[in-house]
Amino acid sequence: MSITVDIDAKIPNNVDLAGDRRLQRALESWQPKFIRWWEELGPAAFQRNPVFLRTAIDVGQQGWANFGHVSMPDYRWGVFLAEPEPDRTIAFGEHMGQDVWHEVPGEYRSDLRRLIVVQGDTEPASVEQQRRLSLTAPSLYDMRNLFQVNVEEGRHLWAMVYLLHRYFGRDGRDEADEMLERHSGDPDKPRILGAFNEETPDWLSFFFFTYFTDRDGKYQLASMRESAFDPLSRTCDFMLKEEAHHMFVGATGVGRVVNRTIELMQEHDTADVHPHGGINLDVLQKYLNFHYSVSLDLFGAETSTNAANYYAAGLKGRFQEERRDDDHRLATRHRMVPEATDAGIGEREVTQLAALNETLRDDYIEDCQKGVDRWNRALREAGTDVQLTMPHAGFNRAVGTFGGRRISPDGRMISPDEWDANVDRWLPSDADRAHVQSLMVGVTEPGKMAGWIAPPSNGINQKPVEFEYVKV
Ligand SMILES: [Fe+2]
Ligand SMILES: [Fe+2]
Repeated sequence: MSITVDIDAKIPNNVDLAGDRRLQRALESWQPKFIRWWEELGPAAFQRNPVFLRTAIDVGQQGWANFGHVSMPDYRWGVFLAEPEPDRTIAFGEHMGQDVWHEVPGEYRSDLRRLIVVQGDTEPASVEQQRRLSLTAPSLYDMRNLFQVNVEEGRHLWAMVYLLHRYFGRDGRDEADEMLERHSGDPDKPRILGAFNEETPDWLSFFFFTYFTDRDGKYQLASMRESAFDPLSRTCDFMLKEEAHHMFVGATGVGRVVNRTIELMQEHDTADVHPHGGINLDVLQKYLNFHYSVSLDLFGAETSTNAANYYAAGLKGRFQEERRDDDHRLATRHRMVPEATDAGIGEREVTQLAALNETLRDDYIEDCQKGVDRWNRALREAGTDVQLTMPHAGFNRAVGTFGGRRISPDGRMISPDEWDANVDRWLPSDADRAHVQSLMVGVTEPGKMAGWIAPPSNGINQKPVEFEYVKV
């Protein structure tokens, strides 16, 4: 079954907006507020320059996007749901085996709205966090990738706002307006999740953010793709297509910094490449430690009644729920979760239903390791004996059993004194951040790269690396 795409409409869509005039009018009156937000709190520079962007135009297997130079406020933000799966049934929880829902059941209305609002809020938040980075892009290729991520986070906001307007009436419209009224770092009206209120201060942070924090997004979207509420499932399914590029930007971005550091180490026969305009491996490790640990917090506490209720109700499943071979109810199955007490780090047994956050976090950790392994392969092939490692899951955590405890990267519970004596070896120090900041100078000549990062191995959409990705 295929659905019609209306690509020339004021709001491009494949949800038949033209067939629902009230909804169309409501979204068309939200549209100028979104554009105003984008112009005020989106990218701080190059808003009017033509950027070589990918735009979603369809949801089919082939040709779901096109590429071309557009200035960002003219980007065609649209509403796209993945193709419906005929006769789809609920794959888990108390309603397992029943038909999926095409409208919101009254009893789950407020929980579903909350899930959509929390997810939706992160999308514009990351655009706000990254708004100054275009001023210091290490190349036009990188600037383009930043803008690609930003416009797609904007489209993800549209995806959630569509659901709010279409399925949640008056409250949904109010929530959609509030998405543009909360702002990252605003003391009065901050974004909902703490991690989304910190500015992304430099490009190294941006690459680690897209590697680790966008990947949290992937796991949240993947578990909502399992939802019994079919429009949410199909929306998330399509968002995941775009999300893959964001993590690619992070994985290759960090990889290129590793490559450049190796080059400088070899050229100058030293591990300290800071005097040569590079970033030392130990600084990369500290940035990794920071972004990984704050991203682990986004999954919440090890056990959660909310997560259990969402699962039992069918609102939010596990990563790849349908590929798992168990009862998909989890109330009588058990697993171990970590437990930190004054005596040390141990474990306790809980139902799998209670431990869904921890299970999702486990899946995420396994996925994170793959990119780290790739960076390490480059280090090994270059003959360095240094490897990057993911710290213990208890390191630098604010949420859950480890929250507020002092855990070393190798997983020992330590005293506050030992923490204070070592924290500058484990997390970016002021001096590390200042050094990284000092390297952040914008490079806007096609094909040229800043000195701290290697060029990418390929351009975008088969264009050469020297292509004019942003016309400045
Ligand atoms: Fe997103
Ligand atoms: Fe993303």
